Amino acid sequence: MVDKNSPDESKVPRSLMKLKRTEFISKIELNRKEGKIPSDLQGHLFLIAPVGFANTPYGDGTPIFNGDGMIYRLDFDRPGEISLKSRIAKTPCYFADEATQTDERFKEYQFKNFGLGRFSLLLGLRNQVNTGFLTAEFSKEQTARLFITYDAGRPYEIDTDSLEVVTPVGSNKEWQSEVPISIILSFLNLRVSFPFPPVLSTAHPEFDEQTSEIFSVNYIRDPLDLLESTPLTPLFIDNIIKDLKKAPHAFTEFVEQKIRQLTGQGLINDDNPLIQFLNGAKNFLSRTYLIRWNGQDSFERWKLVLPDGLPVTIKQSVHQIGITEDYIILADTSFKFELEQLLDNVPVLEIDENLRRCLATRAQLPDTTLYIVNRQDLRSGQCSLSDEPEIEVIAQKITIPLELIHFRVDYKNPGGKITLHACHNSASDVAEWIHDSDTSAYNHHPTPQFLRGLMGSQMDIGRLGRYVLDGRKGVVLDSKVIHDLRRTWGIGLSTHDQRNKSAPIRHIYLQSFGFRSELLTDFIYNLYKDYQYRLIPLEQLKKIQDEDRPPCLFRLDTQTMTIDDSYEFSIGQVISSPQFVPRTHSTHERDGYIFCTVISDKGDEIWIFNATKLNEGPICQLNHPSLDLGYTLHTTWLSSIGPRTADYYIPVREDYEINKEDELTKKLFEEAIYPNFECG
Ligand SMILES: [Fe+2]
Repeated sequence: MVDKNSPDESKVPRSLMKLKRTEFISKIELNRKEGKIPSDLQGHLFLIAPVGFANTPYGDGTPIFNGDGMIYRLDFDRPGEISLKSRIAKTPCYFADEATQTDERFKEYQFKNFGLGRFSLLLGLRNQVNTGFLTAEFSKEQTARLFITYDAGRPYEIDTDSLEVVTPVGSNKEWQSEVPISIILSFLNLRVSFPFPPVLSTAHPEFDEQTSEIFSVNYIRDPLDLLESTPLTPLFIDNIIKDLKKAPHAFTEFVEQKIRQLTGQGLINDDNPLIQFLNGAKNFLSRTYLIRWNGQDSFERWKLVLPDGLPVTIKQSVHQIGITEDYIILADTSFKFELEQLLDNVPVLEIDENLRRCLATRAQLPDTTLYIVNRQDLRSGQCSLSDEPEIEVIAQKITIPLELIHFRVDYKNPGGKITLHACHNSASDVAEWIHDSDTSAYNHHPTPQFLRGLMGSQMDIGRLGRYVLDGRKGVVLDSKVIHDLRRTWGIGLSTHDQRNKSAPIRHIYLQSFGFRSELLTDFIYNLYKDYQYRLIPLEQLKKIQDEDRPPCLFRLDTQTMTIDDSYEFSIGQVISSPQFVPRTHSTHERDGYIFCTVISDKGDEIWIFNATKLNEGPICQLNHPSLDLGYTLHTTWLSSIGPRTADYYIPVREDYEINKEDELTKKLFEEAIYPNFECG
């Protein structure tokens, strides 16, 4: 029998966790490995990927999604040629990180990888802007504007020609931090500045080309909610015991007994004044703001409340928002950011890794909560830079079965009916990565070292859903959910022709990761074995080991809800970042090409498919000896680029408040940060 844990037999490419951080500031021309480069390509394709950090490359257990953002751009300027340019997104915190690693004077300010984030205890959280793009064409006279995004930080605008970071969207004063840092620092009379406070937003804000408005979100999850979601918290001992039963058996009895001894049962009584106080405080602390921005001024914001007046509270994250002509849709997405995602590598917590993980994490919620705001209610919002009172707006709440990270909505909503296309990542947890202590769910042997940092396997088959929602009443009118036993394992990223944003979305191209048993650990198995919407029985899941499901590129017809075209890759390949590129003189929404990245141990490549004939395989495969990609994420396409012409700019020197007595931070900014953003 083949030993699935032998690296020699691995079906997950080792090269996935190895990459080069080389920036191609001068363009390189890609080599044509197979096939022919289409002569009717047009425009420019952008990709983004986390690429680790200069002094801490992947392979030490750092999660694959924790890394500086590398922006890649493919140019189709010359027929028969494709050239590539790339740059790391160098924000102020990037330069602070670099200086604290290399200059002994700033050693105590060093950033370190803490699970999914990169923190400096004295400076704050890195905004890696490594996840997605937002394009916005505010006027026909201006070059299209391009923004890079991150879930835990404000977006940054880049120059589409040079790929350099130009300005954040919104000053630091306009964004509310997850923790009220300035209040805490002044209360404690500390002289540190903490210039990079964590800010929670979305990796997928939206631009409405009809109204020239960008919509985003800024939310604050209260610390009590963070604790409630964590089995470690004694106040929620029932949850602890329930979750511990899912944990590896060796720890269950011991921890259950200890926590019972420490806390007793009395605290979970709802009549307990402490619980009543905490529940009241929770409603005060947790806030969600909808943001509207015209591309030039400070933003407007509204505090979201439910019809009963209680604040909208985000339980996991808002990875994506959607807009229609009349509504804004926010989703509480299945990308958790809880204690376990932060506690990794914390030196003071050198307790058994498995015990810490069992105590500090939980399965993600199996349902999706959507919040729908009527755009007619968004008259004038609170100016983010003024002391005006907050303005509340009502959001209708809808819960649909099955979790999601990504969705798309049709722009038109005739009769108030919203059509939402969902990618359900069933029992899949991208916030859990493979640790040293992990063992295979199949033979319980240690998971190979080279897989450390990769996300664990999904625990059920992914699904595709189409929902019709009543935006006024906040109810689901119709739904259709499908899956495919071969092609919807690990549904990831998607693309469609976005040139006519008002047209209903008829065809969506999706990429799936496949099912790779090597990535199914005992930890993940135990966390998701009781998944509420399970389609593939556990016994069957265990049998898949001998014939893993390959990654796939496929097209969904959203009207018939069928997969009408597809291509299967080999199990040793990882495919990501699909992007539709229209042909010159393209006449319909499938008239173009699908680009994607293909990573394997034979080298990293860019593949091109005819968007109408995926099943015929790639028409061209490109590579380059110096091209060593990371796990590429989202993409976008622009018909033209050029040096940035917009005036909007947040001056870095005015953006950060540095405590006058904090000499070292002042020195860090003067020497390592400001000079990178000031001309002459
Ligand atoms: Fe995303």
